[in-house]
Amino acid sequence: HPHLLDLERLSAAEILAVLRTADQLKTMTEGCRRKVPLLTGKTCANLFFENSTRTRNSFSLAAKRLGADTVEFSSSGSSVAKGETFVDTAKTIEAMGVDWVVTRHSTPGTPHLLARELDCCVLNAGDGPHEHPTQGLLDMLTILQHRIGSDWKNEAADPEKVFAGMTVALVGDIAHSRTARSNLWGLRKLGAHVIICGPPTLVSHRWEELGFEVAHRLDEIVHRCDVLNLLRIQFERQKARPFPSVYEYAALYAMNGERLRHAKDDILIMAPGPINRGVEITPEVADGPHSVILEQVTNGIAVRMASLWLLANAKENADASAENLS
Ligand code: CP
Repeated sequence: HPHLLDLERLSAAEILAVLRTADQLKTMTEGCRRKVPLLTGKTCANLFFENSTRTRNSFSLAAKRLGADTVEFSSSGSSVAKGETFVDTAKTIEAMGVDWVVTRHSTPGTPHLLARELDCCVLNAGDGPHEHPTQGLLDMLTILQHRIGSDWKNEAADPEKVFAGMTVALVGDIAHSRTARSNLWGLRKLGAHVIICGPPTLVSHRWEELGFEVAHRLDEIVHRCDVLNLLRIQFERQKARPFPSVYEYAALYAMNGERLRHAKDDILIMAPGPINRGVEITPEVADGPHSVILEQVTNGIAVRMASLWLLANAKENADASAENLS
């Protein structure tokens, strides 16, 4: 069955197909605001075992914009408290007649587990620190809309050249960031130069072995970057006393007005959210002219509409082929 589990295993052509479709659906829905009944009669279940504002609500809106129904499940207040397992919970919701299960969980690999256990399409809305594929896709869509013009929308666009010459830095808590992982695999596939920047306690040198540039000082790289994607420190995932402290982190890595003066004139400032104002980004930068943080939120609906639509089509084609073979 077709699923969207991670970007590490998607090809550049598949990533571009999602981005082109997202762009088209954004236009068709007048900026993700109007309904286009392409998926009427289908149902999308959101299974969230971790908190969310952006991902959960934009998956719901994406399904509704395309005419589908939604089921909203949160582990808090559910029968999980009575001992029902993750897989039994998902199978129970699937038995209500759903076409897609969107899942967020603190354990890496949980969407991959559901993909083996369920018959419907599974979409990863964040599995612990592993991946957050629709976040990576919406980040790349936002960059493309600002930087590439319309050439990338052409079916014949060469994936290797789409991001050629562009430098994108992922800054912050890489160790705990699923957004970083989805971005770095996706951006590399589309041809961008990726810098992974953060304190040595939160950035492994393993990334260098995998061919990424690693930096430990934002001041040393900021002038070279076309895009900065600022990731928050995930204190909730750090068991021991966090190092660096919030104050040390802000001093070395916060994107502020002074650092912005050393950046390129047209730098894009991105953040997946939620942002910690004054820690990884100051209010003057978050709310300033280089920030595209709220465009990222709108593009979240676009890539989630595209993901639901493409998976539904792929599943119908797969089911039709299986029927022809039987
Ligand atoms: N960016 C992101 O995943 O935000 P939420 O946790 O609010 O969904």
